[in-house]
Amino acid sequence: MSGTVGAPVSRIEGLSKVTGEARYAADFPLAGLAHGWIVQSTIARGRVESVDAGAALQMPGVLAVVTATNAMRLQDVDDGELLVLQDQQVHYRGQTVALVVGDTLEQARAAADGLPVEYQAEPHDVLLSASHPRLFAPDHVNPNLPTDTLTGDVEAGLAGAAVTVDHTYSTPAEHNNPMEPHATTAFWDGDRLTVYDSNQGATRVHQALVRLFGLEDSAVRVVSEHVGGGFGSKGGARSQAVLAAMAARMLGRPIRVVLSRKQLFSLVGYRTPTIQRVRLGSDRGGRLVALDHQVVEQTSTVYEFAEQTAVFSRVMYATPNLSTSHRLVALDVPTPRWMRAPGEAPGSFAVESAMDELAEACGVDPIELRIRNEPVTEPEGGRPFSSRNLIACLREGASRFRWAERDPRPGTRRDGQWLMGTGVAASTYPARSAPSTASVSAQEDGSFIVRLTAADIGTGARTALTQVAADELQVPMDKVEVRIGDSDFGPAMIAGGSMGMASWGWVVVKACRQLIADIDRCGGVPDDGLVARADTADDIAAQADLVRHSFGAQFAEVRVDVDTGEIRVPRLLGVFAAGRIVNAKTARSQLIGGMTMGLSMALFEESLMDAEFGDYLNHDFAGYHIAANADVQRIDATWIDEEDDQLNPLGVKGIGEIGIVGTAAAIANAVYHATGQRQRHLPIRPDRVLSP
Ligand code: MOS
Repeated sequence: MSGTVGAPVSRIEGLSKVTGEARYAADFPLAGLAHGWIVQSTIARGRVESVDAGAALQMPGVLAVVTATNAMRLQDVDDGELLVLQDQQVHYRGQTVALVVGDTLEQARAAADGLPVEYQAEPHDVLLSASHPRLFAPDHVNPNLPTDTLTGDVEAGLAGAAVTVDHTYSTPAEHNNPMEPHATTAFWDGDRLTVYDSNQGATRVHQALVRLFGLEDSAVRVVSEHVGGGFGSKGGARSQAVLAAMAARMLGRPIRVVLSRKQLFSLVGYRTPTIQRVRLGSDRGGRLVALDHQVVEQTSTVYEFAEQTAVFSRVMYATPNLSTSHRLVALDVPTPRWMRAPGEAPGSFAVESAMDELAEACGVDPIELRIRNEPVTEPEGGRPFSSRNLIACLREGASRFRWAERDPRPGTRRDGQWLMGTGVAASTYPARSAPSTASVSAQEDGSFIVRLTAADIGTGARTALTQVAADELQVPMDKVEVRIGDSDFGPAMIAGGSMGMASWGWVVVKACRQLIADIDRCGGVPDDGLVARADTADDIAAQADLVRHSFGAQFAEVRVDVDTGEIRVPRLLGVFAAGRIVNAKTARSQLIGGMTMGLSMALFEESLMDAEFGDYLNHDFAGYHIAANADVQRIDATWIDEEDDQLNPLGVKGIGEIGIVGTAAAIANAVYHATGQRQRHLPIRPDRVLSP
């Protein structure tokens, strides 16, 4: 029978989602459920002097006001954002200073709104700058990469270059904003804690709660069957899970804590703003002799997060002299964290814009420029690539986009009040796998149940894993049930770093193959069924040391209104080489979603820091615009067939994030082509178009 891997299969849980049957973390009904509402600090730095709970406790339905003076003590962990209500210090505006618990959400919220909190405020420092006196070099950058790298002699390379480009680019703070806000419903059964939690991987939330509450692994269960998006902000436990578990313990009742849209802007992470200096040196034909990428960005005083913004430059182009660096400053701000291709998304904006500037300076077509700089091995370190098909993506995209018909001169095409242009940029994202466990059981009726702690955050992962298992077990998909999102199934990778399918698919394949072998050995499925378990830790540790990356080419067409500065994007095209594609329908959705986020990053998304207020001013969708239907015109996402047997048994590279990488640069380059004005700062707002 023919396999289902590769087919455009619709989401298995689609009907249950659109009919409301699917339950998210805040949907579980529990007897005696009470609701917690978070009270946030109104200063950016200082101490809580007192919280006067007296009046609140007299309000109808109010059960408790949990503060640093009466909160349950937690065990120490590295992530200071999880040590909630453990002391009186205020590290940023919007930090949790109390949790009001009520019989209903409205009662808790009403009491929280008027809760008197006295502070002793200290001067705060919330503004990132490239000349900040407290810049430092972190030990490493996310996830565990070198802070600085150097090959050759960049200064000598630049000094001897025939052509140089030296510019500073910047990207603003951006907030993830998944559709479903972070939410947790927690209850204790004796000493066993169960939480329904919205996250990108129940394993990490399980680990965090085990440590914070000092429990055995078996004493905590995290259930996350359906999740409405994460974009990085749900990659680990967030404080609402800790607060719900803590309050449930203190009150002896099930507690639910749901963040409001406004609270997401302070409590669950965001992308750091970046300031990036890129220096390129080349010969007259555009062949690079030096590339230098220096990044300045922020972290908080609670937890150090260093976005890996310059890593894009470590894999993209051949050059004998290559350096990258990251500098941080710890400000009195919420902790920046993962957001939609951390590192590659902002880094590619700077470097792919600079490459367009180099193409212009050399008079070389920007696609040809990239082809001339294609490396044979990893530019920094010299390791071989497992596969690298950037040029194939550029050529396929050029053909589909009709690039050959393009007139390279900027600022020359006009249709009424609209200037028109096209642009291109390259894209890449690492293709990694992480150890996971899974079990597969053969039922006596001929069906199978796969269990693993995978997360489907709206990506279609459950469906894709069902396809994988069905093919391995050689049965139709309706004979396989894949159960996910339950930490009782054992540890597994999160839906993050575009590593979900590679990690989970690998362990599912391994468990299925084990089960088939067991069935053969038993001469069939015994009356009481058969279970096979797998763990990929050893397989992943045994992998050869290769550079594994997806690549892609992004093309954009823009129209720029000369009177208003409005930018429209009539066409985006992305062509990707990401190994094997498991589900053509959900994969296309992932890539289109990523490209939409890239459009959003290029033109709209910007969290505005107010130095005096001490926080990001825009706290809702009225003030923080994310690309919506009216902003998106035509987006085509496609891929080239790529076989790579050095990845994992499925040959997948992961497609969660590559769609956003390079998109903003392609749009900025198209805006240059349209107007003749270079845009080096995101977002490309109308005022920046009118006064560049
Ligand atoms: Mo994604 S930003 O790696 O969770």
